[in-house]
Amino acid sequence: MTLEQARAALAAARRVAVLTGAGVSAESGIPTFRNAQTGHWARFRPEDLASPEAYRRDPKMVWEWYAGRYRNVTHAQPNEGHHLLAWLERDKGDGFFLATQNVDGLHARAGSERLVELHGNLSTARCEACGTVAPLPEPNTFTPPPTCPVCGARMRPNIVWFGEFLPELALEAATRAFEKADVALIVGTSGQVYPAAGLALETRRAGGVVIEVNPDETELTPYMSYSVRDVASRGLAALMGEG
Ligand code: APR
Repeated sequence: MTLEQARAALAAARRVAVLTGAGVSAESGIPTFRNAQTGHWARFRPEDLASPEAYRRDPKMVWEWYAGRYRNVTHAQPNEGHHLLAWLERDKGDGFFLATQNVDGLHARAGSERLVELHGNLSTARCEACGTVAPLPEPNTFTPPPTCPVCGARMRPNIVWFGEFLPELALEAATRAFEKADVALIVGTSGQVYPAAGLALETRRAGGVVIEVNPDETELTPYMSYSVRDVASRGLAALMGEG
């Protein structure tokens, strides 16, 4: 497949499913996870911060890390990649679906609405006792952990940790969307974390076109119909005929 053929397939597609990862927010200044120099997991062990065991062991440290990331994302701005995906949603209408692994909220701030956040969101917390999900106060205005507005118990970051299940309805909706998609775009993810990464394979299995936008090869590259070896903003612009 050539870039022109990939561009034509996307333009003609009635149903488009998109999976994004940390790479789509890299141009907004937000660190990815597995970049060897700047990634979160180059400096921390995920099992020390992003797991139920880590939280049970040291909730204060886990909250300090998430509260710091929350502060960072509130100062970040959506980049051209986020805006192009919001434009694609307006162009495709009901045939569009965006599943993100990101918890930074930037897709919604760029205007994406047909969106599921598979791994949660940094700006909300979940009650450990009654399960209430509530927005966090503005960063620097609260000392974590927040208390539940309903029952007063301690609240945890509303993030899906390693070893935890993804929100069932969101994953079901995403799986259906990728099964039905004429074209799937896989943008800015290393494709190492399942079940999110497996969504790309649903489209391929159903005979759809799967296109990756990533400056590097990934674990999903062998399954791609076409790979745009560029950053999200330029790669999406090239695919959408803007480049
Ligand atoms: N544009 C597009 N892609 C980029 C850019 C960019 N500007 N910069 C980096 N990338 C690519 C990297 O090449 C890499 O393939 O983004 C990908 C980021 O991969 P990861 O850091 O592994 O992040 P992600 O795939 O989102 O991780 C999935 O792992 O730690 C968990 O829950 C966490 O949601 C996260 C999940």
